[in-house]
Amino acid sequence: MKTDGIKLKRTHKCTMVGENDTGTEVVLMGWVNKRRDHGGVIFCDLRDISGMIQIVFEHGSTADTIFKIAESIRSEYVIAIKGTVRKRDEDRINPNIKTGTIEVVAHELTIFSESETPPIYIEEGIDTNEAVRLKYRYLDLRRPDMQKNLILRSKAAKVIRDFFYENEFLEIETPVLTKSTPEGARDYLVPSRVHPGKFYALPQSPQLFKQLLMVAGYDRYYQIVKCFRDEDLRSDRQPEFTQIDIEMSFVDRDDVIAMNEKFLKKLFWETLGVDVKLPMKRLTYQEAMDRYGSDKPDTRFGLELCDLSDIFDDCGFKVFSDAIAKGGSVRAINAKGCGEKLSRREIDALGEAVKAYGAKGMAWISVEKDALKSPITKYLSDESVAAMLKKLEAEPGDLLLFAADVNKIVYDTLGFLRLQIARKLDYIKEDTYDFVWVTEFPLLEYDATLKRWSAMHHPFTAPADEDIGLLETDPGKARAKAYDIVLNGNEIGGGSIRIHDTQLQKKMFNLLGFSDEQAKQRFGFLLDAFRYGTPPHGGIAYGLDRIVMIMTNSQSIRDVIAFPKVKDASCLMTDAPSVVDEKQLKELYVKTDL
Ligand code: AMO
Ligand code: AMP
Repeated sequence: MKTDGIKLKRTHKCTMVGENDTGTEVVLMGWVNKRRDHGGVIFCDLRDISGMIQIVFEHGSTADTIFKIAESIRSEYVIAIKGTVRKRDEDRINPNIKTGTIEVVAHELTIFSESETPPIYIEEGIDTNEAVRLKYRYLDLRRPDMQKNLILRSKAAKVIRDFFYENEFLEIETPVLTKSTPEGARDYLVPSRVHPGKFYALPQSPQLFKQLLMVAGYDRYYQIVKCFRDEDLRSDRQPEFTQIDIEMSFVDRDDVIAMNEKFLKKLFWETLGVDVKLPMKRLTYQEAMDRYGSDKPDTRFGLELCDLSDIFDDCGFKVFSDAIAKGGSVRAINAKGCGEKLSRREIDALGEAVKAYGAKGMAWISVEKDALKSPITKYLSDESVAAMLKKLEAEPGDLLLFAADVNKIVYDTLGFLRLQIARKLDYIKEDTYDFVWVTEFPLLEYDATLKRWSAMHHPFTAPADEDIGLLETDPGKARAKAYDIVLNGNEIGGGSIRIHDTQLQKKMFNLLGFSDEQAKQRFGFLLDAFRYGTPPHGGIAYGLDRIVMIMTNSQSIRDVIAFPKVKDASCLMTDAPSVVDEKQLKELYVKTDL
């Protein structure tokens, strides 16, 4: 039975009531988490955004009419109660909730709205299928774990704004309906009604605008901003995601890094109480690849890669010697003490799994007390085996895993294996936040299908000063003034010092295969701007969703976004994307005859 009319004014959020309020009257509003009917007494856990408190309706101390209404309330009804706070008896204390030592004896009750039985449990840690959770996201968001995530996210946003405001950054908005930007993913396009056949692109990032703001003299810019990329989704990727986007003038790489270390320290301290030690670690791209097989290394544990190419240079094992002869390498990781812990079947499964990275196999050696167990030792000389064991510091009990191929496959394979082993053996310390800057990325990467160079970061990233000559002679060797910030094996941000010289920017476009005409058509406004006085500048952008995902220990980026999309980029709640009226399409000059 729904009641209305009683005009109550909320005095507290549920968990703001404490023992100090004993004897006072409060008005609380929220959702019925659970109602338990004990004959003459009805207990009801009332829940709002702050948490829960127990309400009691007692036959006798509650008026009959109210008691009758209380009998009708069910889970997820929205109610208001007025009542008196009292201490619970010693034996009825609930240590699991903040308000567990008190309860409110209700003497007024309003039912604002009733609820059907919800399709998911409104409680922490449910294992309901995610598709159902996302279809009923508004119910899923009522659950305390989702609320915790979004509350932390909001707090992070506040700390971010505080930090940048205090450091004289201006928050400036940039357009959402714009022109294709250069981050290298596919664009989302919006047809123009006014310009038949023309399209806006949604920004993959505000990259060009923030550079234009530097040209315009705005010195220090930041923005918490939505970006759009039509790419294949993963557990840490959404088609629309949020960046903390930053740009600064008159800076070099170390200035940007120093400001950002200060920022990350404050962010983690004020949101999690985690004290990040500065300065953070740094690795060059090459070091990261050689030691961890990844440009976003998880540095919370060792299991580093070891290059054995010099030992196996011309060994009898063709798999190894061929890889080296072709310019690749033979590398291994020593999974310390793992010999006994992995079964033959598990090793074979890893050997299968690495095929996803292009590896043709995964050789291994299990180091036993007086023997080596392995499918490959028979192909290897005693000398090379001895040298290899020494270099890997192998001891009885260790498991050695090998990859031989072109370097990319070797890195990917061993990078993957080290993570797998660390997870299997619980090598990863929870609640540690291991930041590392990865610097000196290559400027370019060769796209074998398109047969041309493409920018590893984006076309506005400056080459290292000492490598500018290489652009003419050996572009693949040129390093960029680019840097990524990596946290626990996740790329949480990336940026660079930009080119601020029109001639160098033109040269870069030419290298990337843009004709002058194409460059002008796509980025002409930036090149034009550069003709009118451009300060040296650089910046960075963080993936806010990813940071919050790590902060909240979430397995998926979807758990820190209120209304996320699923793998096929659809929204299960609204059913977007959806079919539109023929009339709308006509107005937009769009035909769909698929
Ligand atoms: P970049 O492309 O590296 O750089 O993006 C910056 C950061 O954004 C996050 N990110 C994503 N998060 C969720 N879903 C996605 N699809 C997604 N794509 C990227 C990552 C990444 O590190 N304009 C440059 C920055 C600059 O040079 O200043 C840029 O966008 O955490
Ligand atoms: P074979 O005796 O020729 O079947 O191979 C011996 C071992 O070498 C097997 O365990 C394979 O998984 C492994 N192997 C094959 N190709 C590679 C490779 N490219 N890198 C590392 N190990 C490999």
